[in-house]
Amino acid sequence: MNISIFGLGYVGAVSLACLARDGHEVTGVDIDATKLKLIGDGKSPIVESGIMELIGEVVAAGRVNVTDDPEAAIRDTELSFVCVGTPSLPNGDQDLRALKRLAEQIGTALKSKDEPHTIVIRSTVQPGTTLHAVLPLLEEHSGKQAGKDFFLCFQPEFLREGTSIKDYDNPPMTVVGASDEAAFKQLKALFGDLPCDFIETDVRTAETLKYACNTFHALKISFANEIGRICQALGADSHRVMDLLCEDKQLNISRAYLRPGFAFGGSCLPKDLRALLYMAKRDDVDVPMLASLLPSNRIHVEHALDLVLKQQERNVGVIGLSFKSGTDDLRESPMVTLVEHMIGKGLNLKIYDPEVRVSRLIGANKKYIDEAIPHIGDLMCDSVEDAVGDAKIVIVGLSDSDILEALGSLVKPDQYVLDLVGIKDSDGIAGNVQGICW
Ligand SMILES: NC(=O)c1ccc[n+]([C@@H]2O[C@H](COP(=O)([O-])OP(=O)(O)OC[C@H]3O[C@@H](n4cnc5c(N)ncnc54)[C@H](O)[C@@H]3O)[C@@H](O)[C@H]2O)c1
Repeated sequence: MNISIFGLGYVGAVSLACLARDGHEVTGVDIDATKLKLIGDGKSPIVESGIMELIGEVVAAGRVNVTDDPEAAIRDTELSFVCVGTPSLPNGDQDLRALKRLAEQIGTALKSKDEPHTIVIRSTVQPGTTLHAVLPLLEEHSGKQAGKDFFLCFQPEFLREGTSIKDYDNPPMTVVGASDEAAFKQLKALFGDLPCDFIETDVRTAETLKYACNTFHALKISFANEIGRICQALGADSHRVMDLLCEDKQLNISRAYLRPGFAFGGSCLPKDLRALLYMAKRDDVDVPMLASLLPSNRIHVEHALDLVLKQQERNVGVIGLSFKSGTDDLRESPMVTLVEHMIGKGLNLKIYDPEVRVSRLIGANKKYIDEAIPHIGDLMCDSVEDAVGDAKIVIVGLSDSDILEALGSLVKPDQYVLDLVGIKDSDGIAGNVQGICW
């Protein structure tokens, strides 16, 4: 393929070298004359393991051109990668000046090109940027239409500085966000053979994913370091602790607990988190990230309450009271907290929870319900029908398949359903279903 790469920094230079190595004809474009000269001379503009040799080889093989002329680059290639910087502004927002300027230049260049061209944004950009900032500029300056005369898509870059050539050849996944089959097809032809999944999605998901990934990495590092500081104070071996933590592939290094849903609770997580924070405080160890978990969890419950209150209705049916499906344990259940908030706001509640119902009659929770939360015990009813019947709002806090099936036939179109569990087939429920964070 004939490919142009706009922006020859870390991402652009590595892409240029690897694509040329793989046999493509690559044109590198930058506004920095020094970078263009270095590459033109077969040298690397960045310091990276293996890049010096690779650029030397591909330039000697005649597969690399460099230019500061976007028009020539667009004319002579069929696909362009945009890898210009999107640095932070002082307020944390992204500085889009380079990207917007480039979109204008590419748009102008497209004006005089008859063949369709594909533009792939690889710079990290805030969700909405590709379609609402770049696309309008391309259309305005080219006088052409996206999806017809040219194609625009977003492909997040996952490589890490220092190991970028290795990462280029072994990415965790290839993700392309596009609205056109043509863009998927072209990128699959380029990257479909890499040893990872090729995932097609919409542009906004792909843009957001990059931020979610980098934030997750920062979160993991801070978690390991805060646990490390606590271990140090407690005289425990932090490396051993974290190595063993990583041994658990069921709950720790897995998909577990990584699906947006309702707040955490139960008899262990809040209690043990509080104890860990107490130990840190006692030993003067500052752990702001761990200390933020309980407040963040509280905010999530308050968010559910806000969604309910926004409906300006009084009758609420609550399905589920324990802290998760399949248990009757009510200790520190966020559903109990939500219910208490709603009682405090004067809403009329009917609550149904099959497990709690049984234990209320005979089980271990009878005493807890009768003594600790009698005000809630009185609101419990005996069937889903009863809870949903007169309600204007139905809160689903249980993912029990029988109950979800029952909701399919019980919920009426004028009922608002607040989904806290991520109901798989929410289309099968007639009401206005809204997820707590989706
Ligand atoms: N560095 C990384 O490891 C990495 C990894 C993943 C994603 N990203 C993202 O990729 C993007 C690029 O990152 P980088 O580290 O390679 O940036 P960089 O600052 O090293 O390089 C950007 C290049 O773009 C050039 N440029 C600016 N305006 C231009 C224009 N109008 N035409 C042509 N070139 C122009 C600059 O001269 C510079 O050489 C950023 O959005 C970054 O967040 C970076």
